[in-house]
Amino acid sequence: MPKSLLSRRAFLQTTAVAAGAALASNSIGLDAEPSYVTWEHSPASDRVRFGIVGVGMEGSGVLATAVALPGTECVAAADLYDGRHTLAREIVGKPIKTTRRYQELLDDKSVDAILIAVPDHWHRQVVVDSLAAGKDVYCEKPMSHNPADGLAMVAAAKKTDRIVQIGAQRTSSVLCAKVREMIGNGAIGDLNLIEATLGRNDPTGAWEYPPPPDLSPENLDWDTWLGAAPKKPFDPYAFARWRCWKEYGTGVAGDLLVHLISGMQFSLGINEVPKRVSAFGGIYRWKDGRNMPDVQAALFEYMGIPVYMRLSLGCESAEVTRFQGSKGMIELREFSVTYSPQAGVDTSPSYYSGGFPGAMRAAYVKKWHEEHDPTPGKEPATESITINGNDYDDLRPHLWKFFEAVRSRKPVVQDVVFGHNAALACHLANESYFRGVPVRWDEASQTIKSLA
Ligand SMILES: NC(=O)c1ccc[n+]([C@@H]2O[C@H](COP(=O)([O-])OP(=O)(O)OC[C@H]3O[C@@H](n4cnc5c(N)ncnc54)[C@H](O)[C@@H]3O)[C@@H](O)[C@H]2O)c1
Repeated sequence: MPKSLLSRRAFLQTTAVAAGAALASNSIGLDAEPSYVTWEHSPASDRVRFGIVGVGMEGSGVLATAVALPGTECVAAADLYDGRHTLAREIVGKPIKTTRRYQELLDDKSVDAILIAVPDHWHRQVVVDSLAAGKDVYCEKPMSHNPADGLAMVAAAKKTDRIVQIGAQRTSSVLCAKVREMIGNGAIGDLNLIEATLGRNDPTGAWEYPPPPDLSPENLDWDTWLGAAPKKPFDPYAFARWRCWKEYGTGVAGDLLVHLISGMQFSLGINEVPKRVSAFGGIYRWKDGRNMPDVQAALFEYMGIPVYMRLSLGCESAEVTRFQGSKGMIELREFSVTYSPQAGVDTSPSYYSGGFPGAMRAAYVKKWHEEHDPTPGKEPATESITINGNDYDDLRPHLWKFFEAVRSRKPVVQDVVFGHNAALACHLANESYFRGVPVRWDEASQTIKSLA
């Protein structure tokens, strides 16, 4: 079954379309249809032949989306679990090579690009090997499992002229582009605070995924799956729920925060590591043996202002990012951008005058009205504007940009440095959580240092 029928993203999209229809009468719609919808056929020379490594929950969606784009052809899929060879062939709908060994895809000279959707602890090796084999690379977020992996990936990318795009979709979203345009035009004045929040409260949202029922050491190369992680006996739960453990995943930071950070970096037009980070949280709701927090709040300093991001797997709440400035606020949500201008002036006499004696207060209030009351019929009317658009996590525009870059050799926005910086913010948040103190990135030693 195509992943799009099952995913959280697809589910949320269905419900939001219904909600969006109700709002449509007083909001503006963005044209989210990119140029590929009118592209009828592609010459074989323009076709990008790709292989995919990792055809699990995300990889299956990446593959289904990629093969549905014009001008692409999947020729091979690698996965350590044989069930996903069957799945890859089902998705592609024609015979393709399938293998446990991703190196066979790299040896194939007819493969132009590699799409990588393996767990975080395997990103570095597959990316570095793919680049060394001369392939263009699309690697899922978070780019790295730890800072050292990120540095190695940046170094490997810099040694080649290959395209590397990281898979946090928001840098290809029309909604985030709209936020970027509004902030760039000064719509909210001087930015002074950013806050973002996201909450889930169900086992699947907390990564308690059901392992494939037939999974066994016979159809899975468990030792290779473990990679550089500590050796342990076959564990179907670690295979399916790897996000819960730092040995394989990066917790709510690498899984979810990285999307908020990537969307923010793109919306602000910045590409940098936060100056300092303080994070706090715990395992409050899902005491299932995990060692990564299920609630984590992180306070960053970016551009000299606070950026406060809160993630919870313990209580459902809407996902929203608020860009706050002296002239108003922009709220970015999965399917909408709302701009609420603020005049930033008093609209009535100051309540501080409640502390004036009566005659003084009356005189102050009278004078205030004389000086500030608008001419009748010319009262200012501030209006919020909501723009509805395509899901900001949609894979299609993001994969399309990657394949376009492979053809044109033009640089991508979410390149290896962008991906590294976004992932570093998450690693800093995790380090601060584990160390229990604020931390910063030390450029000189290229390591994380405690601030207390
Ligand atoms: N961009 C997004 O919105 C988004 C959403 C979900 C997941 N992701 C990312 O996608 C990646 C994969 O996540 P997932 O949920 O699909 O994981 P998953 O466990 O469902 O699938 C990973 C697959 O990779 C295979 N694999 C592991 N090591 C391998 C190796 N060395 N060679 C070949 N195959 C190997 C596994 O057998 C498994 O089938 C993660 O980095 C995750 O953070 C991104």
